[in-house]
Amino acid sequence: MTEVLTFTGVQLRRGDNPILRDIDWSVDSSERWVVLGPNGAGKTTLTNLASARMHPSEGTVQVLGETLGHTDTQDLRTRVGLTSAALADRIPDDETVRDVVMTAAYGVTGRWREEYEQVDETRAENLLAAFGMQSFTERAFWTLSEGERKRVQIARALMTDPELLILDEPAAGLDLGGREELLAALSELAGDRRSPAMIMVTHHVEEIPPNFTHALLLREGRVIAQGPLHQTVTSANLSQAYDMPVALHAHQGRWTARKA
Ligand SMILES: Nc1ncnc2c1ncn2[C@@H]1O[C@H](COP(=O)(O)OP(=O)(O)O)[C@@H](O)[C@H]1O
Ligand SMILES: [Mg+2]
Repeated sequence: MTEVLTFTGVQLRRGDNPILRDIDWSVDSSERWVVLGPNGAGKTTLTNLASARMHPSEGTVQVLGETLGHTDTQDLRTRVGLTSAALADRIPDDETVRDVVMTAAYGVTGRWREEYEQVDETRAENLLAAFGMQSFTERAFWTLSEGERKRVQIARALMTDPELLILDEPAAGLDLGGREELLAALSELAGDRRSPAMIMVTHHVEEIPPNFTHALLLREGRVIAQGPLHQTVTSANLSQAYDMPVALHAHQGRWTARKA
């Protein structure tokens, strides 16, 4: 048991606007968390703190044992794998799939003058193979489908062998087949004891991969509920988070939700 993340009394303001309020949260290395909540609830902001890309206005955030504000965040960021729409936008279109993954070893997007070792190349190729992308290594990133891009981005996030993996809406924009393939890959990753601690942001319970263990529900910057998945993802808690009566159904490790 190792704590990878500890939020204590965290507030985050932008100007006069409170974006996150009274957040107390801790994540253990063996846990796989899903963060749920409506648009604007503060989910991406939470991941920006957890990946050392922002500092809290009040309270303390500890990431991998280091307290934000008292540590070199550049160093810390290489220990946290992150995928988000903002990062994906920075990948040059003509970059090959292999380079998209390999450049993560240097914390850059876009290959320039770095010297890569054979071991980096092999690792990138193995990660791509783990996500079913082994035949795409030479392709330009822009030629991929949205689902293929998402899988490449996760391989990239794992390139530095992170101790914490954060996925901000990895299934957004995917068709049914693409979503199901991605969830199967994430479920397998989550079920492997050698995998890093994981945090996946979504606003759909349909996107919770089997093998995830915990959930945190956010609404308007506040935690509505958090804890073990099955005790936390309930009709009552979702109704509160989404501010409407929600009917929830669980079937074979997956969920569906609709307005009650
Ligand atoms: N840099 C910023 N300046 C001002 N407001 C922001 C900024 N970033 C996010 N917000 C606001 O904070 C709230 C939460 O945003 P975000 O964390 O992106 O939510 P989510 O990812 O849950 O949709 C939103 O109301 C958003 O408009
Ligand atoms: Mg967001």
